[in-house]
Amino acid sequence: MRPEHRGYVVALDQGTTSTRCILFDHAGRLVAVAQREHRQFFPRPGWVEHDAREIWRSVVKLVPEAMAQVDADPSDIVALGIANQRETTLAWDRRTGEPVGRAIVWQDTRTADLVADIAAAEGGPERFVDVCGLPLSSYFAGPRMRWLLENVPGLRARAERGDILFGTIDSWLVWNLTGGASGGVHVTDVTNASRTMLMDLRTLRWSPEMLEVFGIPPATLPEIRSSSEVYGLARSVVPGARIAAALGDQQAALFGQTGFDPGEAKCTYGTGAFLLMNTGQELIRSTHGLITTVAHRIGDAEPTYALEGSIAVTGSLVQWLRDNLGLIATAPEVESLARSVPDNGGCYLVPAFSGLYAPHWRPEARGILVGLTSFVTKGHLARAALEATAWQTREVVEAVGADAGLSLTALRVDGGMTSNNLLMQTIADVLDVPVVRPMVSETVSLGAAYAAGLTVGFWSDTAALRRRWHRAGQWEPAMDAAARDRGWTDWQEAVRRTFGWIR
Ligand code: G3P
Repeated sequence: MRPEHRGYVVALDQGTTSTRCILFDHAGRLVAVAQREHRQFFPRPGWVEHDAREIWRSVVKLVPEAMAQVDADPSDIVALGIANQRETTLAWDRRTGEPVGRAIVWQDTRTADLVADIAAAEGGPERFVDVCGLPLSSYFAGPRMRWLLENVPGLRARAERGDILFGTIDSWLVWNLTGGASGGVHVTDVTNASRTMLMDLRTLRWSPEMLEVFGIPPATLPEIRSSSEVYGLARSVVPGARIAAALGDQQAALFGQTGFDPGEAKCTYGTGAFLLMNTGQELIRSTHGLITTVAHRIGDAEPTYALEGSIAVTGSLVQWLRDNLGLIATAPEVESLARSVPDNGGCYLVPAFSGLYAPHWRPEARGILVGLTSFVTKGHLARAALEATAWQTREVVEAVGADAGLSLTALRVDGGMTSNNLLMQTIADVLDVPVVRPMVSETVSLGAAYAAGLTVGFWSDTAALRRRWHRAGQWEPAMDAAARDRGWTDWQEAVRRTFGWIR
């Protein structure tokens, strides 16, 4: 092996339910993995919180644990890349590093009223799409910052004195890795910044207009940087390692799937599901309920944009069947339970637990189970839950087709739920296109590693990364067209019935 090909890239995937540290070698092989779950706090209906200190402690533990698996020491680490759950927002004290309460998670809907007030005052939820590519929604980070400033006693005064830093999880991790209260750098990458509602998508700078609307003191915000550059050197955890990439996890997955060219798309199935299609240097404004986001920016290059269909609840519906209903003991059991029946028995489950995201953007919607008769068993419910993921995918695929004027010929998938073969088959059936899964299904981590490795020259260019993509599985559509059309009509009717629940 040539000397420059020795060593590993460390990827940190800080997700909604767990944090993973994965080491990749030059061949793009996953050589070590360590993972830890963190607690989920649900203090009120619709509220979801994380303890940012607990997340940081996981990182401190996991990186050495993964490195020990291959006897790596810090000098073997060529770079470290971060991928993170997006929109999850926190504030912390710049002198002590102490977070201000818990982080508010992307699924949290506490800002729904605030957002409705802003929409009423400023002229509707679509008013800001032109600046930031996003509809005004409780999903994004900016409204959470304003909520914190308005609801945490004394926070605005502290923020105006310059004592408070805001950030998404990427900023929190980079700041801590690079020294925290003793000199940590306060940065975010363009992909994470594009989820705040505060960044102008064209200039890639904080928008003065948006900061005004949300009342955010500029000094509290991180500096916006590209997704692939050295932000600083790690002062702890892997001392001396170059922190060389950060991307929102869904953008990282597109990168890990090597979706570098316009028209390339992927859908990642985790807690939620997120379909991103690369639109190149073109900023496409959706007219069908998708959002416009930054896919990545490599150093000083022009940014690459994407259209995104964000689905809030997919894997978390399976967790809900397990934890709240006790229908299954483990998440994988949902597949065997669903296979115990041939179809959904006539029932549909629309998991509008955080309202509905793309393509509907209905914060007031709530979940619904329809079509119940005494015939329905828990097997049918399990099937309806998996079908919900498939039909929601179809909704966003149709929107992408309508916006971009093209129809997908295959869907690249990744994420934890792709180990569910019945789900993959159902998605192929309801989309009527093949579903393709790559060899490395940890595409979020892989994307963070690729971006970090490109920064430091561990990999020469994106063509070299493309050569490392290999197909592991493919599902062909096998559903009769009439059954597909009937199911689609039923699903759309079920979705309509979730609207307007909170009045
Ligand atoms: O936008 C939310 C998304 O980034 C969360 O991803 O994989 O942590 O559920 P995940």
